[in-house]
Amino acid sequence: MSRRWHSASAPGKFVILGEHSVVYGKPAVVLAADCRITCSVRRSRRNTLNGEPIEFARQPLLRYLTRNLRHAADFMTSSDIPAGAGLGSSAALSAAMALAIGSMEGTDPGERQLVDEAYNAELSLQGSGSPMDASACVHGKGIGVNLPGTEDRKLWRISRNGNVWNVSDIDVPEMTFVVGNTGVKAPTGPQVDKVRRFVSRSNFAMEMIEEIGNVTLSGYEALKKNDVETLGRMMLIDHKLLSILGVSCRELNKLVNAALPFSYGAKLTGSGGGGCMIALTDQPERVSSAITSRGGTAYIMKTGTPGAKIEECMPDGPLFDIPVF
Ligand code: MEV
Repeated sequence: MSRRWHSASAPGKFVILGEHSVVYGKPAVVLAADCRITCSVRRSRRNTLNGEPIEFARQPLLRYLTRNLRHAADFMTSSDIPAGAGLGSSAALSAAMALAIGSMEGTDPGERQLVDEAYNAELSLQGSGSPMDASACVHGKGIGVNLPGTEDRKLWRISRNGNVWNVSDIDVPEMTFVVGNTGVKAPTGPQVDKVRRFVSRSNFAMEMIEEIGNVTLSGYEALKKNDVETLGRMMLIDHKLLSILGVSCRELNKLVNAALPFSYGAKLTGSGGGGCMIALTDQPERVSSAITSRGGTAYIMKTGTPGAKIEECMPDGPLFDIPVF
C-alpha cells in the first residue's frame, strides 16, 4: 500500500455583490480571496484528521467527501482562511479535500465534478444555499452567477429546488479590496434560514432580494468598465439592503463605517451576522489601520487568485481544525 501524501489547495472567496439574493436565483459577483486552505491525504489503517481519530458523526463534511473511499485515510489540513467568517472556508476545504482524494485515488475530477462535490459537501453541512461559494473556490479569479452577457464564458449550470444558477468566468480588472474580520463567528446556515423565514412571510423582504439583484447588475456593469466609484456606491447600497434583511450586525457596521472615509464603498461579505466586511479602495493601508483601530483584523486582497489546484508539498502552515457547526 503506497502511503504517499497527496495534496491540493483551494482559495477562499469574497462576494462583491449578491449574497443571500443568489440563493433565490438572483445574480452575484464573487472573487477568489487571496488566502488558501491546503489538504493532504494518504492511505492509512485508521481515519485521522491532523493526527486525531475522526468522529464522522460530528463531521458531516468529511463524512460526505469520504463516502466512496474503500480504505481509511490520514488527513492533514492547514489554512490561512479564517473559519466561519464569510470567506468560504467550508467550500474551500471541500474543494481542496475532494481534489486531494481524487489524486490519491488516481482520478482527476475536473472543475465541473469538483464543484458538484464541494457544493454537495457544503449542503451536507449547512442544509441549503447556492453553489456560488463552491464555484468561486473551485474556479478561482472571478465568477459571475446569472449575469446577462456572460453566456460565452459559461462554466456550468446547476439547478436545485426550482432555482437555476448559470456560473460564468468573468474578467476582473486589477483592484484592491481590504477584508475586515469582526472576529464574530457566524456560520452560514442560520443566516440563510433567517432570510428564508423573512422572505416566506413578507413581500417586502422579497422586494429587497429583487433590489439586491438590480444593484448587482448595475455593479457588474461598473466593474466591467473599471468604474470604481459606481461599483463602490453599489456595494454600499447592497450593504444597506442586506442590513434591512437583518444579516448585518453592530460589529460589521462599525468596520464598514471605519473603512468608508478611505474607500469607494464597503459592505458585509458572505452570510453576515458577524464574519467579514470588504472595502474597495486605493488606500489599502489607511483602510487597514481604520479597521484595526476598531478591533477588526484586516487583510489586503488583490484580484486574480487561482482556483483549486494540486500541490506538490505538504502544508506547513497552521493546522486547521474543521469547524463543527
Ligand atoms: C454565503 O457565502 C453566501 C450566501 O449567499 C449563501 C449561499 O449562497 O449559499 C449567504
